[in-house]
Amino acid sequence: MQNQTAFIFDLDGVIVDTAKFHFLAWQKLANKIGIDFSEKENEQLKGVSRVKSLEKILSWGNKTLSDQEFQRLMEEKNQDYLNYVQQMSKDDILPGVKSFLDELKSKHHPIALGSASKNAKTILKCVDLNDTFDAIVDGNEVTKAKPNPEVFLKVAKLLNTEPQDCFVFEDSIAGIKAANVGGMISIGIGDKETLREADFCFKNFNEFDYQFFKNIKSKT
Ligand code: BG6
Ligand code: MG
Repeated sequence: MQNQTAFIFDLDGVIVDTAKFHFLAWQKLANKIGIDFSEKENEQLKGVSRVKSLEKILSWGNKTLSDQEFQRLMEEKNQDYLNYVQQMSKDDILPGVKSFLDELKSKHHPIALGSASKNAKTILKCVDLNDTFDAIVDGNEVTKAKPNPEVFLKVAKLLNTEPQDCFVFEDSIAGIKAANVGGMISIGIGDKETLREADFCFKNFNEFDYQFFKNIKSKT
């Protein structure tokens, strides 16, 4: 029988370290149009859609572009990003992730992906996780970007699970907010201070085990 508690994973920066590729591609583009871009700015783009990311970068540099130029730069950034992604393999899955997913599966928990990325399925294929998740909601299926909880609520619906019975794993401030607003239990993966709004936070997947989640009550 299926366990009721569901586990929802963000992709970039949680399952694979693609966050560094997004950073490199955005930095290259920002610098090219004369806008400074460091880790500090990048933190604000994590979990944020491609369109919103470019809008933010332009606003930091006080720049406006024609629609055509805006589209062109988004495509350029994406191509640059995909050049990095295509070199990935299953060795690029972050430490501890695969064994945790396998354990959840063996305990019959529903597991799902909730990502802002329109490249999510391409990435899952590259790292050989395309048959792993019971449900996938990605950037092609949402109209409201994180911190709006739409992506996670859609996942919960697909899994036929109540939000309060869902754990959400996120590396971004926007994603943690989305999980919290959606009434789910948020698990930050990364820096505790940056992700201080998370219900629980760990540096990586080797810092906790399945037992930890057995002891947590749902969020009601
Ligand atoms: C999120 C990333 O998962 O997906 C963001 O954290 C990224 O950095 C967003 O902008 C959209 O991704 P993509 O692959 O559709 O450009
Ligand atoms: Mg992320």
